Amino acid sequence: MCGIIGYAGSGNAGEIIYDGLLRLEYRGYDSAGIAVLSNGKTEIVKSAGRVEKLNTSAQLLGGNVGIGHTRWATHGKPDDKNAHPHRSGRITVVHNGEIENYAELKKQLAASGERFLSETDSEVIPCLINRFYGGNLLEAAIKCAKMLNGSYAFLAMCDGCEEIVAAKFRSPVIVGQGENCAYCSSDEPALAGKCPTLYILEDGDFAVITKSSVKIFDENMRPVNRAPVINSAGEQSLALCGYPHYMIKELWEAPAAVKNTLSAFAGVEAEARAAFAGADRVIFTGCGTAYHAALLGKRYFCELAGIPAEAEYAGELRYNGIQGGKKTVLVAVTQSGETADTVEAARLYKNSGAAVLAVTNCPHSAIARIATLTVPVCAGPEICVAATKSYSAQIAALAAMALSVSGGKRQIDTDCAPALISQTLQDIDIYALAEMCARARGVYFMGRGIDYAVALEGSLKLKEVSYIAGGGYPSGELKHGTLALIDGTTLSVFIICDGELAAKSMDAVEQTLSRGGMAAVLTTLPEVQRQFARRAEVISLPECNKYLSPLVSAAALQLLAYRVAVVLGRDPDKPRNLAKSVTVE
Ligand code: M6R
Repeated sequence: MCGIIGYAGSGNAGEIIYDGLLRLEYRGYDSAGIAVLSNGKTEIVKSAGRVEKLNTSAQLLGGNVGIGHTRWATHGKPDDKNAHPHRSGRITVVHNGEIENYAELKKQLAASGERFLSETDSEVIPCLINRFYGGNLLEAAIKCAKMLNGSYAFLAMCDGCEEIVAAKFRSPVIVGQGENCAYCSSDEPALAGKCPTLYILEDGDFAVITKSSVKIFDENMRPVNRAPVINSAGEQSLALCGYPHYMIKELWEAPAAVKNTLSAFAGVEAEARAAFAGADRVIFTGCGTAYHAALLGKRYFCELAGIPAEAEYAGELRYNGIQGGKKTVLVAVTQSGETADTVEAARLYKNSGAAVLAVTNCPHSAIARIATLTVPVCAGPEICVAATKSYSAQIAALAAMALSVSGGKRQIDTDCAPALISQTLQDIDIYALAEMCARARGVYFMGRGIDYAVALEGSLKLKEVSYIAGGGYPSGELKHGTLALIDGTTLSVFIICDGELAAKSMDAVEQTLSRGGMAAVLTTLPEVQRQFARRAEVISLPECNKYLSPLVSAAALQLLAYRVAVVLGRDPDKPRNLAKSVTVE
């Protein structure tokens, strides 16, 4: 949700920031901009559209200190004038977050003569800093921050001054020192290969970076010590390595992600089990794909561990009037660890005395710092906006946790999971189904039990990378309304991997076919394959334990969504209107 980067050193700031923005682009790609200090004056290039539009102009910026931004528009259209950086007087700023009181501030500033050039909430920041500036950029940034409500990670620079000031509240900022230079950025991958050691700013921190130093301060300008962390992101993990898109590369990385996640669980198993002892309420939460993993977590806990559990979207959980307490365990699932609704739900529950387990791919993220315990998801950096390998690894972590909490009552050989995913990706022929989806007016995904949770994810994946309308439903619900949508132009995709509920989902396939709807069946069950062999598009998946089947059916549905995106000429890595890390509410 917007990427920001700053550099102070002796290299060409324009080129270095451009390179950093390319790595941050998955956080938003509506517009991009770079500001560089050149002979004491600030030069700015910015444009609506992708970062690569700045390729030539960035090279021409001469200077060694600068800041950059790649935008996911919140306030104001994604056009040139709303692109960051924004400027007022001597001050230039890039911002990630949302300033909730911006309208009020704009009104006050306009009344005292300020002219605004953009529709953004962010533009109040350089205006305020410029007004407060009396020779000390840090001091002016702190005074500005005190006026802001909402969330911000901003970087500010001032004409004639070779330093960058960073401020953080509820949006991420990391800082680090390289050789003869220093950086600040929204996340670790942007600094892979540049800074081996990083400092993660906490809410209310400010940092001043120059070519030779990185200093962190509190809001009273007192120095603050933050523990250094090793930058785990490798440059290799950011390369396409011959694949046409990150989505397909990351899909193929799912087996390793699952394997590494299952191994890493051993390191937290005892603490995870202890967290559930004596709990009388277990809630799984997350947003989007992570919520779909949370739904599976709920089912695993109910069915494998015999522990009653609930699942709710993080954005809803926060406002349902109940806030946990000492006997509650909240399991918050999030790839980035920075999703605002999930982080705030975790904070709310932690403050109520609940144990918070963060199932996350980012060990230095906001949620990891709030949680009682981090349950590692070891998927490595996920660049494609559409989540793939992180979802598979989240499922693996949740299954391992449920099996462990069951205390050995339920045993499943999870070691075969990575091979099952590889076999699925290698063996299935999804091209014909992809063509059917591409031609359909609407695509509906259905299943029961664990298959329903996967159906929701299959639907989300297809929608986000293909823009084809549709939805995910429990197949038992079909006859209660959705059936009215079925005709020869709509496609219903049934996931049938739970043998105990298969007969019921098969009825729903029959109801669809008998009304002239197109149907596809993804199944691990030979009897289901036989039943629909000549009447529906059948995708045969490797036979496996029902509780491992979500790994298999999800891999098939992710591959399906990818193929449809390719057939339709969409960019699966950067779907329109979306961003990878949703740090606004
Ligand atoms: O980083 P998170 O897992 O918290 O992100 C939550 C959702 O924004 C995310 O899963 C989103 O739905 C996916 N990009 C969909 O593929």
